[in-house]
Amino acid sequence: MLVFHKLFKGLIITYTFIHTIHIFSVFIYGGFLFVDVLFLSKMKQTLNDEEYKKARESIMMHVRKVVPYALMVAVASGLFMITQVFGEITDNSLSAFQIMLSIKAFLASWLGIRGINQKLFGINPWVFKSHLFPFSLVVVIILLSQLMYI
Ligand code: HEM
Repeated sequence: MLVFHKLFKGLIITYTFIHTIHIFSVFIYGGFLFVDVLFLSKMKQTLNDEEYKKARESIMMHVRKVVPYALMVAVASGLFMITQVFGEITDNSLSAFQIMLSIKAFLASWLGIRGINQKLFGINPWVFKSHLFPFSLVVVIILLSQLMYI
């Protein structure tokens, strides 16, 4: 009994730890998209093309070292968590929680695969050229992450 109790407690501590990592990595990735779409794009209003390019690059050179990896950590930690919380499929049908979590995981994996393609293989499809599309996906993912518990 004591062994099971210890194992169970260990799993809860691990889950909480990975969950915290998930939230921080999502915070870093989503935070950048938020700042980029809502604020950095506004630099165009006061800077000319040349200045804008220079100012943006001086920020992006640091962003590239952190943000793509935050997305990869978010996906990896998410994949661990989904194995723990998805639960059994009963009566051959998915619960509302399972459906929303699956949609969320699909959209997040899409972002993740695209991030890995861009970072490691230099492949960048047109839908992701601007950050507005990934930003919108993140908004939907965050909403699903909350609504799935209702
Ligand atoms: C394949 C990729 C992913 C999977 C499988 C996944 C899975 C999960 C799971 C299972 C939870 C529930 C954790 C819990 O409440 O115990 C969760 C929470 C969450 N995820 Fe993900 N996730 C992934 C990627 C992402 C990405 C890319 C984002 C956003 C950019 C994101 C945003 C969130 C948010 C905001 C929460 C809610 C955290 C909270 O309320 O405590 N996830 N995710």
